[in-house]
Amino acid sequence: MSRRQPMNTRPSPAHRTHRTHRARTTLATLLFCTFALYVAWHAAHDGEMRPVDEVPLPAAHGEGPAAPGDATAQPEIVKRGEYLARMGDCAACHTADKSRPFAGGLAINTPFGKIYTPNITPDPDTGIGQWTESDFMRAMHEGVGKSGERLYPAFPYVEFTRVTEQDVLAIRAYLNTVAPIHYKPPANELRFPFNQRWLMIFWNLFNFDEGRFVPDPQKSAEYNRGAYLVEGLAHCEECHTPRNFMQGLKSSGRFSGATQAGWQAYNITPDRAGGIGGWSDDALMSYLATGVAPGHANAAGPMAEVVQNSTQYLNAEDQRSITAYLRGQPPVAGGVTRSRDSYGQPANDDITALRGTVITSVNGAQLFVANCASCHNWTGAGVGASAPGAYPSLIHNSVAGAASPDNLTMTILHGVKRQTKDADVLMPAFGDALSNDQVAAIANYVTKQFGDPQASITPDQVAALRAQAQ
Ligand code: HEC
Ligand code: HEC
Ligand code: HEC
Repeated sequence: MSRRQPMNTRPSPAHRTHRTHRARTTLATLLFCTFALYVAWHAAHDGEMRPVDEVPLPAAHGEGPAAPGDATAQPEIVKRGEYLARMGDCAACHTADKSRPFAGGLAINTPFGKIYTPNITPDPDTGIGQWTESDFMRAMHEGVGKSGERLYPAFPYVEFTRVTEQDVLAIRAYLNTVAPIHYKPPANELRFPFNQRWLMIFWNLFNFDEGRFVPDPQKSAEYNRGAYLVEGLAHCEECHTPRNFMQGLKSSGRFSGATQAGWQAYNITPDRAGGIGGWSDDALMSYLATGVAPGHANAAGPMAEVVQNSTQYLNAEDQRSITAYLRGQPPVAGGVTRSRDSYGQPANDDITALRGTVITSVNGAQLFVANCASCHNWTGAGVGASAPGAYPSLIHNSVAGAASPDNLTMTILHGVKRQTKDADVLMPAFGDALSNDQVAAIANYVTKQFGDPQASITPDQVAALRAQAQ
């Protein structure tokens, strides 16, 4: 019954009760409203609330909309902008339909309702074709839209504010070259008071430090480049750093893990037990480039998308920089004493004993043999070793060995889909074929045989994870 949660991670949705959720929302609402009055008074009296960009825009950047398909943009700047846009994973959030890249319309689920991403193609009416470079810069650096409206932090400007002007302009130059698409995304579905954009002033005051990245002179150039990417465009913290009750990123326990759409974005600090301190540099670089770190982990769920859309495109220097930076973070154990990827040994039960037996109840071993063993082998050792596209071993696999079986369950429900240069990785989703009882039985069998034997999940908890919008 007991499901352990690593400390420093938010309780999984399966655990969060409605009551604490409601209490939090009420508290947040009260604080918002109190502060609203305070802000309204100050806005009327001094008008100095908005943080001012301390780095003035060089005059050369000009005003006036940059023409879509701008022929004067230098090809190398556009190319650089494309690389940077990949690092920022702009396409992932701003594409709802692959045939309309960057045209937005993807619903981002927040605890306060749905936010639909805007169209950022150069279409003049529905996209950002009429935005000046400084409008674009202000959105990326200050989280303020074209008409001066506050943007919601579902747009990761908390991180993008650190990106240099030059890089922001390169991204803009690239976006100017993508096909303009005439498409108006649906209106947001946010509950009062969260539909009041101006209240973001309050959120920003507590959770947003506007300003460009400042290198640490004590650290190497490689580390600083990694810091610039991870803390900036790559916005790894949006998923891997725990949040406070206002959904802002906590400044303590950075990278120590959090929950994202039902998935645990694991602790990636260099702690040997709680985090990924036991991984070699090569393993981490391989994970970012392909989604596979043999003997440690595979990338599924939101991380598969990050690898597919973003990190697989990192050049070798940037892979190394990110690795050096993550290695240099303070380790956080989070109460965990044994690493996720250290569990498990091959099953040696006599599976022939299962053959021909009548299934009288939900049996995890039988379900595993029937549904999973064709690819992962009945021993759990996988097929194809560590070749690209191999069926991975469930032994020494971070998902099977994690204290919370959430990601294992989510993998069974949703499968794995990840396209990279090396491989088209596909594990089928079992969500439609298997009941909550059956999924729980398989997950409990896998954790007991190949992972952390103390991790377990109930059918109700599977149901709660199933209800998470992906
Ligand atoms: C995690 C999801 C996510 C990622 C990644 C992301 N955005 Fe967004 N972006 C959003 C959301 C959500 C909004 C809308 C915020 C709002 O309505 O207040 C937004 C708004 C914007 C806006 C303002 C548009 C308008 O019409 O107001 C711009 C410009 C923008 N994003 C550019 C980018 C660029 C460039 C990148 C990549 C470097 C990027 N975004 C990456 C989610 C994302
Ligand atoms: C959209 C959310 C999201 C973002 C952004 C994100 N991650 Fe992840 N990450 C996850 C999730 C979820 C997992 C667990 C994946 C799984 O179980 O297969 C994960 C897993 C990992 C792991 C493997 C940990 C383990 O023990 O299995 C590493 C390493 C990692 N992420 C690094 C990064 C880095 C570096 C970045 C920034 C470049 C990043 N992540 C950005 C959600 C995210
Ligand atoms: C058709 C082959 C196939 C079947 C059947 C299959 N898997 Fe997988 N499984 C894969 C592939 C492919 C991957 C991803 C490999 C990669 O990431 O490179 C994977 C990944 C996994 C992972 C690792 C996910 C992560 O985030 O690290 C787990 C755990 C897993 N499978 C469990 C199961 C279970 C349990 C079943 C039965 C319900 C099952 N698989 C059925 C092919 C399969």
